[in-house]
Amino acid sequence: MLSGRRVVLGVSGGVAAYKSAYLARRLLEAGAEVRVVMTPAAQRFIGAQTFASLTGSHPLTDLFEDPSVSPHTELARWAELVIVAPATAATIARLAHGIADNALAATLLATRAPVVLAPAMHTEMWEHPATRRNISLIEADGHRIIGPFSGELAGGDVGIGRVAEPEEIVEFAKTVLHRPLEGLTVLVTAGGTREALDPVRYLGNRSSGKMGHAIAAAAAQRGAHVELVTTSSLPAPPGANVHRVESAQEMLEAVEKIHPDIAVFAAAVADFRPAQAAQDKLSRSDGPPTLVLEPTPDILASVVARGDDIFVVGFAAETGGVERAIEKAKRKGVDLMVYNDVTAPGSGFGTDTNQVTLIEPDGTVDRWPQLSKAEVASRLMEIVANRLGR
Ligand code: PMT
Repeated sequence: MLSGRRVVLGVSGGVAAYKSAYLARRLLEAGAEVRVVMTPAAQRFIGAQTFASLTGSHPLTDLFEDPSVSPHTELARWAELVIVAPATAATIARLAHGIADNALAATLLATRAPVVLAPAMHTEMWEHPATRRNISLIEADGHRIIGPFSGELAGGDVGIGRVAEPEEIVEFAKTVLHRPLEGLTVLVTAGGTREALDPVRYLGNRSSGKMGHAIAAAAAQRGAHVELVTTSSLPAPPGANVHRVESAQEMLEAVEKIHPDIAVFAAAVADFRPAQAAQDKLSRSDGPPTLVLEPTPDILASVVARGDDIFVVGFAAETGGVERAIEKAKRKGVDLMVYNDVTAPGSGFGTDTNQVTLIEPDGTVDRWPQLSKAEVASRLMEIVANRLGR
């Protein structure tokens, strides 16, 4: 996986910088070409000559003393993967806010390669609200984080903040470069539809779009061309082409224009909508209105009915056990159904975690532990890729 791949190793200034020499060695052993970029603080912890001797080329340490006209963009374009280890709180903050005031920060801003960060810092710094915010920002930008883990820190302290070990970072890097969905189009629906009652009110549900957006991000990370049809105002996952819609009808119309190889229906689509939305705002003085509902189009069914060779994943949000979801998997003709018990704590609508059960077309079930929605999405995309022989 790393053989012949061009990896830039960014080193920032923490005591864990000495481990980056081992990391460079492990990457070279795995067959990668490695170039190093260091912050001024990193050079207080480990010499540039150490990396020059290991990798055979001098690290980039300064934007103005390098003979190249634009050393950071040159390095950024050369990279197929950038690994920052250790990633200090300051380097993370620079990346989160686009501050390019040293050679590493400028390279990070200039690259279009995937970026992996291995944070290392004292527990207090890791837990500080500013660092928490910055980590959320860089994750939303699609950068990947490994660690930190609990263990011994600088000065004999113990707690969370220890950098991932070189071997762990190498294994993680392999998964980041693993792009089994390259060349495939993945359609994802996300969020809850809103069915108009009048110009200001709607029938809706509690879906936030987090699950669907996580799936779109996981598919894009694996090299897919992603078309995300969503009602959610969450930011567009990096690499996904986003279609913002509101109602089931709009979602259907957007989906009809997409010709995917894989379709994942994570949206909570209203089953019924008002047969007639009022032209004007309903008035209290007119008394309670009588609501006449009609069925919405079944978007998943319309894709299955195309009869194309599309791998279809449905989602089922149920409150009364897995049996209804098994029945739904069979009835809907999906290749996989993901059941979430929306009454379980930390599962279903609006949460950052989910507890799902994978249902095969023959009714076989595989119960997963509670995981972050990002992890559910990653595992699901790996399984789909595997089923397609990728
Ligand atoms: O968005 P979050 O807050 O992260 O929450 C995630 C979630 C709970 C919404 C998600 O994980 C989920 O379970 N989505 C499916 C919700 C649901 O209730 O589906 P359903 O049982 O009504 O429908 C079954 C399948 O058919 C779903 O894949 C649905 O997208 C699809 N469907 C349903 C009706 C319809 N008219 N068109 C459809 O495509």
